[in-house]
This record gives sequence, C-alpha cells and structure tokens, in this order.
Amino acid sequence: MATSSQRFDRSTNHFINRIGLTVVYVGELLRHRAYTRFLHWAYGIFFFLALLSGFGIYMPWIFRWFTPLFGGGAMTRMLHPWFGLGFVFFFGLQAFNWAAAMKWGQGDTRWMKRLRDYVTNRDTIEPPDVGFFNGGQKLMFWEIVGGSIAYVITGVIMWFPEIFGRIAVAISYVIHDISALIMLAGIFIHIYLSTIGEPGTMQAMTRGTVSEAWAWTHHPAWYKQVTGRDPAEALAEARRTQARSSGDQSNQ
Ligand code: HEM
Repeated sequence: MATSSQRFDRSTNHFINRIGLTVVYVGELLRHRAYTRFLHWAYGIFFFLALLSGFGIYMPWIFRWFTPLFGGGAMTRMLHPWFGLGFVFFFGLQAFNWAAAMKWGQGDTRWMKRLRDYVTNRDTIEPPDVGFFNGGQKLMFWEIVGGSIAYVITGVIMWFPEIFGRIAVAISYVIHDISALIMLAGIFIHIYLSTIGEPGTMQAMTRGTVSEAWAWTHHPAWYKQVTGRDPAEALAEARRTQARSSGDQSNQ
C-alpha cells in the first residue's frame, strides 16, 4: 500500500505534468517530464542558496560579501537551515521519482572501471549497455542522497546546540563541511558535463527532450529501449548520410 508521502509525490507529479508542457519534435526523444524538471531546478536553487549562505556564515573572512545578499549576518544565519531543508525536501521527492532508474547494476560497475576512457573521451559512443543513467550519474545521485542525510542529522544538531552538547556540535561541523565540499566538487563536474562537456544535455532539463543522436551516443541501451532501433546501426546510418552530404557539397 502506498504511504502518504508516495501519494503526495504521485499527485504533485500528475498535477505538474498536466500544467507543464513538454513538446517532442521529430528526431527527439522525451527525457524528463515537467515534474522532474521542476524538482531539479527547485533543489538546484535551494542548493545554491544554502551554499552561498553557508559560505557567508562559516567562512566570513573570505565570503563576508555573501551575507548582505541575505539581509546581513544574523538573517543569513537564520535562513541557512531553511534553505538546507528546502534542498532536502525537493531532492527527497526526486529521490522517490528516480529511485528505480538509479538502481545500481553490474553494467555500472563496468562503467566505473572504464572511467579513464570516459574522461579522456577515448570512445565516440558509450558502451551498448549504458541505460537511462550511466554509472557516474548514479554515483553522484547516491552521493547526494547520503550527503542529504548527513546534512539533516548534523544540521539539526548544530541548529539546537543546547540540546545536543558541545562534542556532538563540533563533530557535526566537521561532517557537515566535508559533506558540502564533496557535493560541491560533484556539482562542478555535473554542471560542466551538462553544459559544455556534453553538448545537447542541457535541453534535457529545460525543454525535457534530447536528440536521437544524443541518446544513441550517451545512453545506447535507453535509445534501443525507447525506439526499438540498434544504436550502432543508427550511428552507422548517420555517418553514411553525413558522408553522402559532404560528397554532394564537394561535387557542387
Ligand atoms: C546550473 C546548475 C545545473 C545544471 C546546468 C544542471 C543540469 C542538469 C541536466 C541537463 C541534467 C539531465 C542529465 C540527463 O538527463 O542525463 C541534470 C540531472 C541531474 N542533476 Fe543537475 N544541473 C544543475 C544543478 C544541479 C544541482 C545543484 C544538483 C544537486 C545538488 C543537481 C542534481 C542532478 C542530478 C542528481 C541529476 C541526475 C543525474 C545526472 O544527470 O547527473 N543538479 N542536471
């Protein structure tokens, strides 16, 4: 039986998908519906608000100029935990939404072993068993799940120091900050890959669609699942078409 949070997730999912438009043009595939995009940008905004206010409070000697953005030091201190809770709330809903797609498989372990090839761009297309998300995306997702749990526990301890005592608060500071730094490093890589690193990816979180070529290049097993076509054959066909059109141009 569905729990009340699952029921809430399902009804907001239907509501936002009904009001949010996703247009899929010829040559494109549906990647993320409006609900997924809404959650992504909601926790993305809260993440950066929590990050900037956090830096302003905990490293004032470097980031003092962040606190006026939030109405001064005291206000920033008051707002930071609420920004953090906003982030965890929306990311929690996304975690429900993506839990099945993020399930770790043997293909993901294989993907991690060839991380060097991925980073150095050795292959033009991903291995044929890469589905909706690759191993790196899943690793980042589960790191954020773990980090969010750590934020909530350590954040509450630091929020109410009089209840938890000095030692618990001191340990919480260290865990909270390490967790923030790990997540920040992951998010930098994530933003790079979603924008200039892999052109065509950003559209997945704006319009909700990707080109078929993007799908067979980065997620061949997902491409095969949704189109029923062979990604290697689609690539070969695209290369033949490209060769034909450059041949035509050189004959003109
Ligand atoms: C300017 C900032 C950001 C941009 C441009 C961006 C862009 C994107 C895009 C395009 C995708 C879809 C990738 C796909 O379908 O394969 C995505 C997915 C995702 N985003 Fe972001 N994002 C940003 C910030 C964030 C933040 C702050 C978080 C969390 C703290 C986050 C967490 C995720 C996760 C977990 C996924 C799914 C896994 C993945 O694709 O890596 N994103 N993002």
